[in-house]
Amino acid sequence: MATVARTLPWYLNRHKVASALRSTWRLLFLPKEQQKRFFDSFDVFSMEWEARLADNPGDFRETSRKVADWYSVVNLLCSIGQIEKMYIPPRLEAGKSVHHNQLLYERMLAEDLRVGPGDTVLELGCGRGRVAYHVHSLTGAGLVGYNVDESQVRSAKDFARQRRADSLCQFHVRDLNDVPYPLQDGSIAGVYEIGAICYSTDLSRLFKDVHRVLRPGGRVSLLDICMHDQYDPANPEHVRLLSKTKPLVGLLRALHWHDYQRAFHESGLKVVKNENPSIDGLMVPMIEYLNRYFVLAERVTKVGTRLRLLPAHLSKLLTRFNEEGEAFVAFDRGRLGTIAQYIVAEKPH
Ligand SMILES: C[S@@+](CC[C@H](N)C(=O)[O-])C[C@H]1O[C@@H](n2cnc3c(N)ncnc32)[C@H](O)[C@@H]1O
Repeated sequence: MATVARTLPWYLNRHKVASALRSTWRLLFLPKEQQKRFFDSFDVFSMEWEARLADNPGDFRETSRKVADWYSVVNLLCSIGQIEKMYIPPRLEAGKSVHHNQLLYERMLAEDLRVGPGDTVLELGCGRGRVAYHVHSLTGAGLVGYNVDESQVRSAKDFARQRRADSLCQFHVRDLNDVPYPLQDGSIAGVYEIGAICYSTDLSRLFKDVHRVLRPGGRVSLLDICMHDQYDPANPEHVRLLSKTKPLVGLLRALHWHDYQRAFHESGLKVVKNENPSIDGLMVPMIEYLNRYFVLAERVTKVGTRLRLLPAHLSKLLTRFNEEGEAFVAFDRGRLGTIAQYIVAEKPH
C-alpha cells in the first residue's frame, strides 16, 4: 500500500505517464530477436567477464554490444518503473522519493561543474537524455551526450526537440571506449557521467582523453561504483553478493578507489572531491522501495498473462530483471561497496 501511495505523485505527471505508456507499448511488441539478445546479454556481468576485460582492455566492442542489448530493454523497464534516468541517486534527503533525490543530486552536480551559458558539457553514457536536459536547464550550458545504445539516443533527441532544446542538447551514438572523441582539445567546460564509467574497459585511456578535451580548470564528475575495503574477495559470501548484484544494476566492472586513483594520476586530472554522499553512507531504503515496486509490477503482469490480457514475455522480462534484489540490499547494507560514490576531478590550469 505504501509503495502505491509513494508512487501516486509520479502517476500525476502527464509527461512521465506518456513516456511510460510509450515504453509499455514497445515492450508489448518487443521483437523476439531483441528479447533473446536481452536474455543472452546477462553473461557480460559475470565475474569471468571482468577477468577477461582486465586481461585485454582494448577488446571492448563485443562487451559494449552486449551492454547495449541489455540497456535496450532495461531503459524501457526503468521508464515504466519511475527511474527513467536509470540510476539510483545518493540518498541526500530521507523519506523522499528516488526522483526527488535524483533532482537534488543533479543540482549538486551542476553546481560542482561550474559551467554556464556559452559553455559545452559532455555526458558519457547519456541514457535517454533526461539528466542532460536538466543540467542544461540548470546551467544554460550546451550539452553533448554519448550513448552506445541507438534507441536511447533517439529518445533523447525526441525529448530535447519537444522542448525546443535540440540545438543546445545534442546526442550521438558513440561508445565511450572509442577514444579519442571527435572534440577539439580544450573545447569542453565540464564532463560528467552517472553509472557509465563502469563500462570503461580502460580507465586511464578514457581519462587521458577527458583531460585533452577539457579546458584548463574544467571539471569532470563521476557518480559510480566504488568497492569498499570491507569487500573481501576471499570471502565466498561477499563474492556471491557482488556477482548477484552485478546483473541487477548492470555493473560491468567493480572498480575500487585505487583503480580511479591510478587512472586520475596517469591522466593528470586532480581529484577535488571523493565522497559517498548518501545519508549514513547507505542507499538501502531506496533500493528496497524500488525492489517492492518492480516485484509488484511483475505480479501484476503475471496476472495479466494468466488472464490472457498481456503477452507472456513481459513478465519473463520483469522476472529476469528483478532477480537478486535481496543480494543488492545485503551488498549495500554490508557496506561492501556503493554505486553512488561521488568523485570530482579538475584539469589544472
Ligand atoms: C546507469 S545509465 C545512466 C543513464 C543516464 N545518466 C540518464 O540520464 O539516464 C548508463 C548509461 O550508459 C550507457 N552505456 C553503457 N555502456 C556504454 C558505452 N560503452 N558507451 C556509451 N554509453 C554506454 C547505457 O546505455 C546507459 O544509458
